[in-house]
Amino acid sequence: MTVQEHQTEVKQGRIDTASDVMKKRKEGANAPVALITGTSSGFGMLTAITLAKQGYRVVATMRDLSRREELVKLAEQAGVAERMQYVQLDVTDAESVDKAVGTALLNNGRIDILVNNAGFAVGGFIEEVSMEEWRRQMDTNLFGLIAVTRAVLPVMREQKQGLIVNLSSVSGLSGFPGYAPYAASKFAVEGFTESLRHEMSSFGVRVVLVEPGAYRTPIWNKGLGEIHRSEDSPYKHKLDAVLRYSQLASETAPDPQEVADLIGRIARMRAPRLRYALGKGSRVLIIGKAVLPWKWLEWIIARGLK
Ligand SMILES: NC(=O)c1ccc[n+]([C@@H]2O[C@H](COP(=O)([O-])OP(=O)(O)OC[C@H]3O[C@@H](n4cnc5c(N)ncnc54)[C@H](OP(=O)(O)O)[C@@H]3O)[C@@H](O)[C@H]2O)c1
Repeated sequence: MTVQEHQTEVKQGRIDTASDVMKKRKEGANAPVALITGTSSGFGMLTAITLAKQGYRVVATMRDLSRREELVKLAEQAGVAERMQYVQLDVTDAESVDKAVGTALLNNGRIDILVNNAGFAVGGFIEEVSMEEWRRQMDTNLFGLIAVTRAVLPVMREQKQGLIVNLSSVSGLSGFPGYAPYAASKFAVEGFTESLRHEMSSFGVRVVLVEPGAYRTPIWNKGLGEIHRSEDSPYKHKLDAVLRYSQLASETAPDPQEVADLIGRIARMRAPRLRYALGKGSRVLIIGKAVLPWKWLEWIIARGLK
């Protein structure tokens, strides 16, 4: 069922309106609903369990439902299996987005939290990343996030209540060599989210950015595994340094449950801030950017990659 079909059904009285559902919820009949993108691994999977433990009905979406086994197992171990709903959603496919949001509404009548988590990182030096890869990066990390947000906004606006958490990154705060496509996508998410927060504040919809530094999730073995490298590249030396740095960062990175716990805490806040940076990289960078001249930062990053 699409969002439009759902709205028609509501108008015709075949499905509860958001306020009917709210009333039932007050009567204890309904738990709040969280829709999360990219729950097949990493932050998305852990956030699904964390929110389910907090009493949410979780619409755990993923582009390939055959990858849900690990989440299903975790949900059973945590005793929250009955709160989980598994729905196919590829953020780059408009029909899939519309169907998933429609299904979430049909099953639950409302969406209280949207966690825009799905994403990946294209690595490589700007000159050597093909335009196809640039577009693939923006299609998922930016346009995908926008598409899911747009599908959910009418629901939250009508409810006059909701929370949207957008996963940005330390790369949304500062560009690093070898990660331009990823940084460009996350900087764009930052700007988009600032505008969204302004636009939705009078509708009771809270909008938040989570900006993690490096955490130990499968992301490091995905896009970066496909990084552009050739033996005769003029960037080979620098790219090798970036890869060594990334490898080290991924091996020593902290437990991703920290990010899921933060999202769990944000879900309980009545008036969250716009930005939540976590992980040592993000915090140091924010302070560094605020107090140091750009040339110093440049020098520190260049040294780190030697
Ligand atoms: N880990 C870090 O150090 C870190 C730091 C800062 C920010 N982040 C951000 O955190 C978010 C989650 O990343 P993660 O670290 O948890 O990585 P992850 O384990 O690789 O999880 C990414 C999730 O996004 C999904 N995804 C990718 N493309 C998709 C698409 N087109 N439609 C729907 N789902 C899609 C993946 O599905 P598949 O399993 O099918 O690939 C996976 O479920 C991302 O936005 C990432 O940029 C991560």
